[in-house]
Amino acid sequence: MPRKDLLDIEALDRSEIEHLLDQSAPFKELFTRSVKKVPALKGKSVLMLFYEPSTRTHSSFEVAAKRLSADVTNFDVGHSSIAKGESVRETIETLQAMRTDYVIVRHMASGMPGTIARLTRASVVNAGDGAHAHPTQGLLDAFTLREKFPQTDGRRVLIVGDILHSRVARSTSLALRKLGVEVAYLGPGSLVPARLPDGVRRFTSYDEAMGWRPEVIYLLRVQMERQEAQYFPSLREYHRLYGVTEERLRILHDQGIYIMHPGPVNRGVELCDAVMDYEFSLINDQVENGIAVRMAVLYWLKPGGA
Ligand code: CP
Repeated sequence: MPRKDLLDIEALDRSEIEHLLDQSAPFKELFTRSVKKVPALKGKSVLMLFYEPSTRTHSSFEVAAKRLSADVTNFDVGHSSIAKGESVRETIETLQAMRTDYVIVRHMASGMPGTIARLTRASVVNAGDGAHAHPTQGLLDAFTLREKFPQTDGRRVLIVGDILHSRVARSTSLALRKLGVEVAYLGPGSLVPARLPDGVRRFTSYDEAMGWRPEVIYLLRVQMERQEAQYFPSLREYHRLYGVTEERLRILHDQGIYIMHPGPVNRGVELCDAVMDYEFSLINDQVENGIAVRMAVLYWLKPGGA
């Protein structure tokens, strides 16, 4: 059953996730053609409402909407009346009067896309809210994994880094768990939540985690803006304990282990430079797949005010 909004992965069951991933494949196939556009959302309008910086997600949604032939408006938060104290409700009421069909929201406050969804007939897609959720990242990661492992049940993915503050870790773990993937966490004790999601295990050292024989290592961005809080001694120490160093990369290569990362990457922290040319890196696949998955999401959602 199509939904009005996509706010988190919790709301989706396995069959809905699989449906969205199945629908993404023909959209990706379109990218190989000279004309990369379909008229599926011709006449529909998509509003990009980003209160936080974004490179990948913003451009990916914009390309996805345009490839579906929708009209895209970028709401410039910095130059809007929000800077003069306009409330989210006022902003949405203004946008509502414009009869927008889809609103793509990124916000620093967890739950804000849900609040906006309740205020508008448009379909709202959460493009990342606080430390809560980033559902299209979870879906694109699941799609990328499934391209390499069509049977997802029992596959092993190790997620490394700042899991506590990561909306990507939450959404990707949930999406993978719903597809039967085994998930484990590795990171500094201060950055792994004490309560783990159902079925997720935790390792405290890189060697212990590698003994579990993961097939994919998913590196999270070290959130430099949090380093002031001293969650770990230093970036050099982080790289030594949890980073993919050149020595570790050689071992990963010998074992054919894939690397994923949601971007943006911090070279010399969560990974060494050589990862960018690594034979089994899926980082560029993630970027390309993000467009196809977001096309499938926009096509699937049904705006209530349409
Ligand atoms: N992966 C991701 O959310 O990146 P951006 O912050 O650049 O959108």
